[in-house]
Amino acid sequence: MTSNPRHLLTLLDLNKDELLTIVRNANFLKANRHKDHLRELLNGKVLAMFFEKSSTRTRVSFEAGMSQLGGSALFLSTKDTQFGRGEPICDAAKVISSMVDIVMMRTFKQADIEEFAEHSKVPVINGLSDDFHPCQLLADIQTFMEFRGTLEGQTVAWIGDGNNMCQSWIHASMLLDFDLKIACPEGFEPNQQLTSLAKDRVTISQSPQTAARGANLVTTDVFASMGQEDQRQLRLTQFSDFKVDHNLMSLAAEGALFMHCLPAHRNEEVTGELLEDESISVVWDEAENRLHAQKALMLFLLQVPNFN
Ligand code: CP
Ligand code: NVA
Repeated sequence: MTSNPRHLLTLLDLNKDELLTIVRNANFLKANRHKDHLRELLNGKVLAMFFEKSSTRTRVSFEAGMSQLGGSALFLSTKDTQFGRGEPICDAAKVISSMVDIVMMRTFKQADIEEFAEHSKVPVINGLSDDFHPCQLLADIQTFMEFRGTLEGQTVAWIGDGNNMCQSWIHASMLLDFDLKIACPEGFEPNQQLTSLAKDRVTISQSPQTAARGANLVTTDVFASMGQEDQRQLRLTQFSDFKVDHNLMSLAAEGALFMHCLPAHRNEEVTGELLEDESISVVWDEAENRLHAQKALMLFLLQVPNFN
């Protein structure tokens, strides 16, 4: 890799054209997943995956994706590596990036991923931090476009916590020119600096009904994210009016979709009926698309020339 690798630390590391190219390539990889020539694109390449938090989808999709493209993936967790014993991030970055071709990290602090990337000789992908979840947005954008063609000019409603997912949706609205209507309980809004950067695209209220009215996509996430387990009971009370159900969806535009990055807590942030209603909810396609979108992302960051 060059001394200046491309990273995906937030969605804003991509421009609009690059983002749409990755989504197009993800669709191609999905449609042609069993074609032989695609199984060799990353022959011999190694992905190191570092997890400070739990994961199902991110771990499986990156590991399966790498192996389907001919490469391999290493699972590293805080407790089994020297990370957990205080080895400086800059030292780990120099060492790990001298041995592998690409790195994915899931951490609490966004700053830790950024520090690793600063000292890495190979591309670094944010697999979720407290602040952002750009890989999930690649899959979410792919999924919406798969069902409805384009996000441009549409309205997306975010209902619930102004968390990492919400903040990555703000980035997406800046890149793809759609309106984002956020409804959060008071005190749970996304970062103010970020919302003011996106003020032409983003509106914030405390009313799920206001946000959902006329929306083409309604999306939500858990009330207590990883690392906030001790606030769970308090949040269940504070977010009690923010559950997404068929009633709320009835205010949305005709043909509106529902998405959730998963894992979901049925009957907390979304009713079980809505989550399972496949005429509205596209959560299973959304989860599957993590695989295709991240394969396309890795090929982009590793500068694999045209394959479609
Ligand atoms: N949506 C998502 O990132 O899921 P995991 O936490 O299971 O990876
Ligand atoms: N906001 C959630 C997303 C999980 C994929 C969390 O950070 O736990």
